Amino acid sequence: MAAELVSPVDAIVKVRGISKSYGDVEALRDVDLDFPRGKLTSLLGPSGCGKTTLLKIIAGLVPRDAGTVTVNGKQVDKPGPERAFVFQDFALMPWATVMRNVAFGLELRGVAKAEREEKARHFIAEVGLAGFERKYPHELSGGMRQRVGLARALCVDADVLLLDEPFSAVDEQNRRKFQEDLIRLRTSQAKTFIFVTHSIEEAVYISDRIVLLSPRPGRVSRIIEPQIDRSGDPDRIHRNQHYLDTVEEIWQGLKQYVE
Ligand SMILES: Nc1ncnc2c1ncn2[C@@H]1O[C@H](COP(=O)(O)OP(=O)(O)O)[C@@H](O)[C@H]1O
Ligand SMILES: [Mg+2]
Repeated sequence: MAAELVSPVDAIVKVRGISKSYGDVEALRDVDLDFPRGKLTSLLGPSGCGKTTLLKIIAGLVPRDAGTVTVNGKQVDKPGPERAFVFQDFALMPWATVMRNVAFGLELRGVAKAEREEKARHFIAEVGLAGFERKYPHELSGGMRQRVGLARALCVDADVLLLDEPFSAVDEQNRRKFQEDLIRLRTSQAKTFIFVTHSIEEAVYISDRIVLLSPRPGRVSRIIEPQIDRSGDPDRIHRNQHYLDTVEEIWQGLKQYVE
């Protein structure tokens, strides 16, 4: 539906006609989506609806059966430096320090040690981990490890950050804190975030746009722009009537899919 697509000029990632099956399991059917530059878009839907599959197709990590993905106007078929993926299970190198993990993308690109460490130090501080540069992943909490994953993605300076339920393995208190950090980072970094979640509250709290996916096979069911004023105290936002109404509206749309 053209009316739901953003202006082509503003779209950094364009997904057209994406379908994907794993054997007999049809995961995605004919998905068309535009992701606007500099915004955070959430893919929201029930477990198994193909969110991770769509994100990994955009990342070039999973082959599609049909359709195209373009980033900055160029078709993509494999991972590239303009996209960075933040995995659900962190995917850190256990034998490497926080510094080395965060700087690793730059190391792969042959950036000199002093330069990549300076950059890494900056992003380690941005995600609230200053002072932890020499620690190893096993010395950190789940929330801190996820911050390392985010810092690593920011450090390679990709235009598009792809985050697959980054808070799912993080306890509730850290999740709140991390959500606030992500809102702040989104404003300061001018990056495009594509964020997978199954939490309605989380999607409404952090997103500029929410793409509701139907259960398997995943299709675009609706696009919502929550228009939440996030300038004030985070606890007040969670009690704000417009926030609560938006959560309720999405729940009304999704609950038909829940047995
Ligand atoms: N590698 C795979 N092999 C077979 N089936 C898969 C594979 N990955 C995902 N699926 C199936 O595809 C569907 C969509 O999965 P996924 O994209 O992980 O959904 P979500 O992230 O929304 O939970 C599910 O039914 C899942 O079991
Ligand atoms: Mg998933």
